[in-house]
Amino acid sequence: MIEINGLHKAFDKNIILSNLSLTVEEGKTTVIIGRSGAGKSVLLKCIVGLLTPDAGSIKINGQEVTQLNEKEYNKIRKDIGLVFQGGALFDSLNVEENVAFVLNEFMKLDKEVIRKKVKDSLALVGLKDIEKMMPAQLSGGMKKRVSLARILCMEPRIILYDEPTTGVDPITADAINNLIVDLSRKLKVTSIVVTHDMASAYKVGDSIAMFYHGQIIAQGSPDEVRVTKHPVVKQFIHGEARGPITDGEHLVFGHTK
Ligand SMILES: Nc1ncnc2c1ncn2[C@@H]1O[C@H](COP(=O)(O)OP(=O)(O)OP(=O)(O)O)[C@@H](O)[C@H]1O
Ligand SMILES: [Mg+2]
Repeated sequence: MIEINGLHKAFDKNIILSNLSLTVEEGKTTVIIGRSGAGKSVLLKCIVGLLTPDAGSIKINGQEVTQLNEKEYNKIRKDIGLVFQGGALFDSLNVEENVAFVLNEFMKLDKEVIRKKVKDSLALVGLKDIEKMMPAQLSGGMKKRVSLARILCMEPRIILYDEPTTGVDPITADAINNLIVDLSRKLKVTSIVVTHDMASAYKVGDSIAMFYHGQIIAQGSPDEVRVTKHPVVKQFIHGEARGPITDGEHLVFGHTK
């Protein structure tokens, strides 16, 4: 479904993605884990065409997308929803207008049909009667769910989630995990989930990929990852501040001899 090969992206001299390859199977959920600032959001933005990679290939349903112009990419975007890390809601629009934004912009639908779609997608994320509220009146977790509802009402075949459970309480996080699993099972949505939350990674992932130094350095099923001997993956999943990820990167805390 999504095939990435030799992807390269740098901002000036700051190399973020370097010869990155990743295959995401149709109907499956691939989780990407990796440290803050490593480049996971950059990778997702390259996939949806918000950033243009410097080199390499991204194929979506067999179609090379890195060379497409804006108009051609828009056709593909209808099929791919990116749930932004911070929600990215429009502050001046209420919840209903935010969720309906893309429907209003790109699809010629009856107002009542749009209203129902908005209501249904809000219900899917466990929110109701908040259509007239403004983003400033919502909690962080609610904003996250509203931004997810905005993607759901587009009925995309591919959903990219950027840290969907970060900053929400464990119960809401679990509800979001269940939703990701449900969408994958019932609607056969293909998903990429970027997360630091290992409980979420194990729960939603068919496959877990470790992002490190601009590449995917290891990938396996949750069961394989749980017992991995790979030093970088092991350090990450156990959250240890000393080890190959941090040593030598001037991020070593604690005592030094
Ligand atoms: N548009 C941009 N212009 C310049 N640098 C950028 C841009 N977007 C991202 N970066 C840089 O790319 C690096 C990776 O950022 P990115 O947001 O992908 O990290 P991340 O892995 O998603 O981190 P986190 O887990 O904290 O969200 C950072 O050093 C960031 O400053
Ligand atoms: Mg990020």
